[in-house]
Amino acid sequence: MPPFQTILYSKEGPLAYITLNRPQALNAVSIQMRDELYAVLGSVAEDPDVQAVILQGVGERAFCAGADISEFGTAPSRAIARRVRWQRDLWGLFLAQEKPLIAAIHGYALGAGVEMALCCDLRVASEEAQFGLPEVGLGMVPTAGGTQTLPRHIPLGKAMEMVLLGDRIGAGEALRLGLVNRVVPRPRLLPTAQEMASRILSLSPVAVRLAKAAVVRGLDLSLEAGLALESRLLAQALTSQDAREGVQSVLEGRPPHFQR
Ligand code: COA
Repeated sequence: MPPFQTILYSKEGPLAYITLNRPQALNAVSIQMRDELYAVLGSVAEDPDVQAVILQGVGERAFCAGADISEFGTAPSRAIARRVRWQRDLWGLFLAQEKPLIAAIHGYALGAGVEMALCCDLRVASEEAQFGLPEVGLGMVPTAGGTQTLPRHIPLGKAMEMVLLGDRIGAGEALRLGLVNRVVPRPRLLPTAQEMASRILSLSPVAVRLAKAAVVRGLDLSLEAGLALESRLLAQALTSQDAREGVQSVLEGRPPHFQR
């Protein structure tokens, strides 16, 4: 993998870390960061050793303060900007990721920062985290998936409030709304995300992947089609060695040993 300049990537066994690394700009998403995230997510998808990912930001002040506003309007033309977005559908790639993604959020999570966190499966926030979608105030529309992902996570009226008023909310309200799964003191942020990852990593990788697919793909289906999808994915899981091992371990009263 090429060396990155705007992100850090590391692996500890099956757990990978993607760290947004532009602290001078509160980890704002520059064009280069988009490209590097696109590359790293492709590698994560193809790397059989990686089975879960933690996404975080460096520095004390922000997970990510949104798109880099200093680059707005720098594309040669709107048509080129649109074509580049289609060619590198970063947010689509995030949402298509089969492996579980956990966002560890501190400080500001604004615009694309919130939206990137929403592309993850689980979100842990530190107590001082602040969430907001300021795009409309800049004469823009959230385009890192937020108009679609936010109302799938929190009540529609609240999502509208965030999108239309651009107000920031704190970690407590984010927890109450279901925007994040846990709120912890700042020193506990990474350890909590790591504990969640360890729990997932102790389970069957096959079952985790299929269960995530059932939930994510099912969201866009009718109930009937979603149930059919669930049955197909279960049938796939049942053919795996992990399913045999899982059942056997329960029968024998011992912890399962899943294939890695
Ligand atoms: N893009 C580019 N640079 C950004 C940025 C962004 N989205 N957000 C912050 N920065 C930069 C600032 O320009 C500043 O750089 P400087 O030190 O070279 O001047 C640095 O990060 C620190 O930000 P600053 O504004 O000085 O900190 P603050 O505590 O006063 O305010 C925020 C923090 C997050 C409230 C404020 O920076 C902000 O509103 N940022 C823009 C958020 C936004 O609109 N994002 C969505 C874009 S669609």
